[in-house]
Amino acid sequence: MTTSFPKDFLWGGAVAANQLEGAYNQDGKGLSVQDVLPKGIAAPRTEEPTSDNLKLVGIDFYNRYKEDVKLFAEMGFKVFRTSIAWSRIFPQGDELEPNEKGLQFYDDLFDECLKYGIEPLVTISHYETPLHLSKTYNGWVNRKMIGFYERYVRTLFARYKGKVKYWLTFNEINSILEEPFMSGGIFTPKEQLSKQDLYQAIHHELVASALAVKIGHEMMPEAKIGCMVLSMPTYPLTPNPDDVVKAMHAEQRNDLFADVHARGYYPKYINRYFKENNISIQFEDDDAEILKHTVDFISFSYYVSICETADPDKRNEGKGNLFAGVQNPYLKASEWGWQIDPQGLRVTLNKYYDRYQKPLFIVENGLGAIDELVTDEQGNKTVIDDYRIQYLNDHLFEVGKAIEDGVEVMGYTSWGCIDLVSASTAEMKKRYGFIYVDRNNDGTGSLERYKKKSFDWYKEVIGTNGASLTDPAAKK
Ligand code: BG6
Repeated sequence: MTTSFPKDFLWGGAVAANQLEGAYNQDGKGLSVQDVLPKGIAAPRTEEPTSDNLKLVGIDFYNRYKEDVKLFAEMGFKVFRTSIAWSRIFPQGDELEPNEKGLQFYDDLFDECLKYGIEPLVTISHYETPLHLSKTYNGWVNRKMIGFYERYVRTLFARYKGKVKYWLTFNEINSILEEPFMSGGIFTPKEQLSKQDLYQAIHHELVASALAVKIGHEMMPEAKIGCMVLSMPTYPLTPNPDDVVKAMHAEQRNDLFADVHARGYYPKYINRYFKENNISIQFEDDDAEILKHTVDFISFSYYVSICETADPDKRNEGKGNLFAGVQNPYLKASEWGWQIDPQGLRVTLNKYYDRYQKPLFIVENGLGAIDELVTDEQGNKTVIDDYRIQYLNDHLFEVGKAIEDGVEVMGYTSWGCIDLVSASTAEMKKRYGFIYVDRNNDGTGSLERYKKKSFDWYKEVIGTNGASLTDPAAKK
């Protein structure tokens, strides 16, 4: 069996603190924006945390992480991506001193990973801005956020520099375009937020991200610090040049973020958009210099591709990951309407590598599906998730092809390697994991963990360094 995956390829899984830790007020943790989003983006935020918010308990990873990390190790994980809940470290966000118990939790978690030779890959901010920063400062619209974030990252780097080598500054930083509250902690309702404020907030995040790279390189010369973007290749619906231009503009709207991170300055194409929308970004003296601290690698999530058209009669409800577009008539969709396009991952890898010539890391990819827990012939509870195996196999096969195309890929962490609460709809029913967690949408369940069929499948993929993957074309 041959494989194109390099020997040191980082295989693993990814999660985010707010979607699995639970313990939302344990050991001094403050509230985050997630604690008032009981239905994700599917319904408005609440005033206070409410008992229907599944994230308050999550899958109780905060208290059960040892059992879960052991299962990750059994699958052979080389890397485990998680985020640090900002409000565990700085409960309000604007304090001068961190919360020791929060810091200790992540020390223990990283030690547990390292015990099995699993490298932690840490997202510094994953949709969990302290609620106080949102309510009091209006999140990233306010320049003061750069200072709060700087204090937070300095604290993390000083504490974990011997343990964490791989860092991501902001999860899906471009998602602020569609979800300013969840992504950017911006309290102003989306409908009332001006483009001026939105892009000024984006500028503050871009500066903060570059500052984290600068500080990280100074404090941890061995560390690799990346950006993280939501990737969603946008195809023209037809070869009509009007559609091609429309798709180009949709891609540029997203590309802005990785462009600045990788190149160290704003791309020219955005000036036209700024001019047409009366946006004038306020740069402070050092901003241009700070932005020059470019990332070591580009990481991204990939779930779907989408189409665009200039023809209003051909527009329909194409669902994407937080972003919408037009459906592709050639693709099938998941139960949540996300269109499945393994080749789009190869396209994305080639595009980014050609555009940036920096190593790439796929830090999210997977299938959200309804699973049924059954009892197998040996009497073990499991899920026969052939649909998930097929999804992952077909995407990973395309990663292999991209590597053969010459793309430098550092690793792959499949999303929600253990079932967790979904981000967009905040439900348990939408499951991604290799490990089933007994918890239901109504909050019932024992929280017991069970291995799905995909558990052994992924173990073999990792064990063979990708050689066990099968060519989807051979099945056709
Ligand atoms: C990404 C996020 O947008 O997609 C994750 O970074 C999220 O936090 C994932 O969980 C899948 O989306 P969902 O809505 O199915 O959980």
